[in-house]
Amino acid sequence: MEYSAQPSRYQQMKYRRCGKSGIRLPEISLGLWHNFGHVDRFDISRKLLLRAFDLGITHFDLANNYGPPPGTAEENFGRIMQNDFRPYRDEMIISTKAGYLMWPGPYGEWGSKKYLVSSLDQSLKRMKLDYVDIFYHHRPDPETPLEETMAALDLIVKQGKALYIGISNYPADITHRAAAILKQMGTPCLIHQPSYSMFNRWVEEGLLEVLDEDGIGCIAFSPLAQGLLTDRYLNSIPADSRVAKQTGFLSEDRVILMLPQIKLLNEIAAQRGQSLAQMAIAWLLKDNRVTSVLVGASSAAQLENNLGAMGNTRFNETELTAIESILKK
Ligand SMILES: NC(=O)c1ccc[n+]([C@@H]2O[C@H](COP(=O)([O-])OP(=O)(O)OC[C@H]3O[C@@H](n4cnc5c(N)ncnc54)[C@H](OP(=O)(O)O)[C@@H]3O)[C@@H](O)[C@H]2O)c1
Repeated sequence: MEYSAQPSRYQQMKYRRCGKSGIRLPEISLGLWHNFGHVDRFDISRKLLLRAFDLGITHFDLANNYGPPPGTAEENFGRIMQNDFRPYRDEMIISTKAGYLMWPGPYGEWGSKKYLVSSLDQSLKRMKLDYVDIFYHHRPDPETPLEETMAALDLIVKQGKALYIGISNYPADITHRAAAILKQMGTPCLIHQPSYSMFNRWVEEGLLEVLDEDGIGCIAFSPLAQGLLTDRYLNSIPADSRVAKQTGFLSEDRVILMLPQIKLLNEIAAQRGQSLAQMAIAWLLKDNRVTSVLVGASSAAQLENNLGAMGNTRFNETELTAIESILKK
């Protein structure tokens, strides 16, 4: 059926300014790492994306290697872009990345100019786009000079293939250096994409301060710890879950290890009148340095539930202390 976006789509969503830039991002964005590849059902992926846009999610996050197989999330997105989203292109912030292995040989991963420029050209073809809004370097490269990688990002912006630049998984010190190089070239770093959740708090040890000082936005990926911080695994491992599908990196062992904490956190969420997923997202949004929380979802119902997080992002001292004591266990 032909898609026509909901006229009410901007009524519920809240938007936050991304660092010191002109861009505002939705408090909740949608990532296409899982559930959008050729192994997944296209009709479900399409429904999820259309629903997201109808709910005011203007930001969709991809990478060259998302699938599986790698590249196919971009291909599926391109199909939806062509058939459904084309009239709304200017209402969207679409990002992609390069950094992980994409093709064989010495130019198929990491951070050389050769790899980054070629990879983005491939991504644009797959996504049927003239440009992306944000192009990320996906992970720091210990061997390529940082100056070369940043010059490649700057070049890509000057060529009009990306409007803004981001970095992902960079530690605090390299982020600060990268930001300085980019600033000097006249292409400020818009955003950093780190992993951040109740179960993974490395960004609190310096990165968030650097981002704040350098005027860079922060979009937190895997905010639900890939589904652990939800009610998904409270009672069993559902057959359609990420753990059961085994196309990803979430293991049954990890579920077993974290289950006692998950159960306790779920009780606090219930006291707050939230699902555990909602509380986990709200817990990130309580910090204004977090521009957006980048969730994944396998159904429209999950996404709808997640958006409920925006209803209450305040925590009192008792709740915060109780959460800290569970996370320390
Ligand atoms: N830059 C990087 O290196 C990097 C790395 C990883 C991810 N990312 C980005 O971050 C995005 C999100 O990552 P993620 O998928 O790991 O995020 P996540 O939000 O932590 O986990 C998403 C999974 O949680 C479950 N879920 C979501 N909402 C739920 C709800 N309301 N109730 C119950 N279960 C729920 C679903 O699992 P089921 O599928 O089992 O239903 C869903 O697939 C990616 O798509 C990608 O864009 C970036």
